[in-house]
Order: sequence, then structure tokens, then C-alpha cells
Amino acid sequence: MTPDVQIFERPAQVAQALAQLFVDSGRVAIAEQGNFRVALAGGTTPKTAYELLGDEPLRDGIFWKDVFIYFGDERCVPPDDPQSNYRMANEAFLSRINIPLGNIHRMRGEDEPQTAAASYARVLVEDLGSLPRFDLILLGLGPDGHTASLFPGTSPVTDDALLVRAPFVAKFQMHRLTITPSVINNARHVVFTTEGEGKAAALAAVLEGAYEPEEYPAQIVKPTDGTLTWLVDRAAASQLKNTARFS
Ligand code: 6PG
Repeated sequence: MTPDVQIFERPAQVAQALAQLFVDSGRVAIAEQGNFRVALAGGTTPKTAYELLGDEPLRDGIFWKDVFIYFGDERCVPPDDPQSNYRMANEAFLSRINIPLGNIHRMRGEDEPQTAAASYARVLVEDLGSLPRFDLILLGLGPDGHTASLFPGTSPVTDDALLVRAPFVAKFQMHRLTITPSVINNARHVVFTTEGEGKAAALAAVLEGAYEPEEYPAQIVKPTDGTLTWLVDRAAASQLKNTARFS
């Protein structure tokens, strides 16, 4: 499957495209089924897009009461910690939109990791069923080819029945919480955003290199019955050999 890779000149255009895609996907899902269940990416790349979601006009482009927010991964820190993905998203837009607090489901990074993973898995099953199917999952790409918190060296390619895992990530000397590939690949739409020269080697390896998912966990992402889209800037795309096939 050739993924849909959209290359933009500047990061601001990537952010605008992601924010617009969020609203467009949400409106379709709400029209079809009355709700929109989305798992947010963490890190820094999506922050600008999240801020756009908290500003007019996009803030007014969707009925937030029908939007249900989850997270694809979280650092094992309290929600007010500067490293917290929840804190980043909350400051960027969740605290600035008219969304019922009960619609936001953060991962409890402050809890014991395995306990937090198990309790989040229960939330997913209660809300989305035994194999959750998100309408949209947002992902980023690390310079080492990781996505969510599926890192090289943490046995990312597991087909176990777990929905949420709590790997210890040696490079950060901390545990993380992450949805698993079975959840990611069951989504209707998966969208990566990747920006900057620092990601160029990883992006080229993931999109054009040999299939080595233990080394490049982002390669695991192949939705079984859904779409896969990459929104990237020119710098991140700079090592791609064959961009002709991409838009
Ligand atoms: C996290 C993310 C992670 C992120 C990549 C890219 O918790 O850090 O979920 O997978 O998307 O590491 O991070 P940046 O956007 O900060 O480059």
C-alpha cells in the first residue's frame, strides 16, 4: 500500500493541514455516527495544529460535545508535568474549547505504569469495544523511527492482545504508556505529522527502506481497514529518493 504522503514547504502548512483534517474527519464521523473518537499524538510537532483547533475559525468548525479525546501515548509523569502530553494538548486547545470534561480521557501517567496501562485499556474497551476502532489516530515520528511510545528495543512488534502497554524506555530512563499496534492498525484514519531535517533520515528509512519494524517501529503502522496519511514538511522529506509518487 503506497501511503498518502503530502509534502508542504513549511511547518505552518503542515499544522494547518492537520488541524483542517481533524475538523473534516470529525464532521464526517459525527454526521455518520454521532460522535468522533480521536487519539492525540504527543511530543512537539502537533502543538501548532492543536493551537489552531483552539482558535477561530476551526474551533467553531465542529461540535465539541460529540468529540471524544484519547491519547496515543503518555510519559509516566503527572498531568501538570512539563513532559506530559496531556498538559501540552490541554494548554494548546483542550482548555480553550467548549468540550465536556468527561469527553477527555487522559492516560494516568502519575500512576504505577502497569496499573495505568491496564486501567486505560479498560477505558478503551468500555468506550470503543474489545478491539477499539478510533476514527482518527494522530502520530508523530521520532528520529529513531519510533511512533507513539513504540520504541526500538522495547519489542514494539507484538501481536499480543494488549491494547495498552507500559514499556521502560532506556533512552529516557523512564516508563511510557502507549496504545499497541493492534489498536493503531484498527483505526479508520491514521495521520503522521513529521517536520524538520532531524527526521529526514528516519522518514526515508520508514517510507523507503527495508521493512525492519523492530528498528523502525513506525513501519508497523499499516491500517488493516483504514487510511494512512503522512503530512510532512520539505525538510523532513529531504532524504526521500522518490517524491514523484507523493503529492
Ligand atoms: C511522545 C510522542 C512521540 C512523538 C515523537 C515525535 O510522547 O513523544 O508521542 O511518539 O510523536 O517522539 O516527537 P516530536 O513531535 O517532539 O518531534
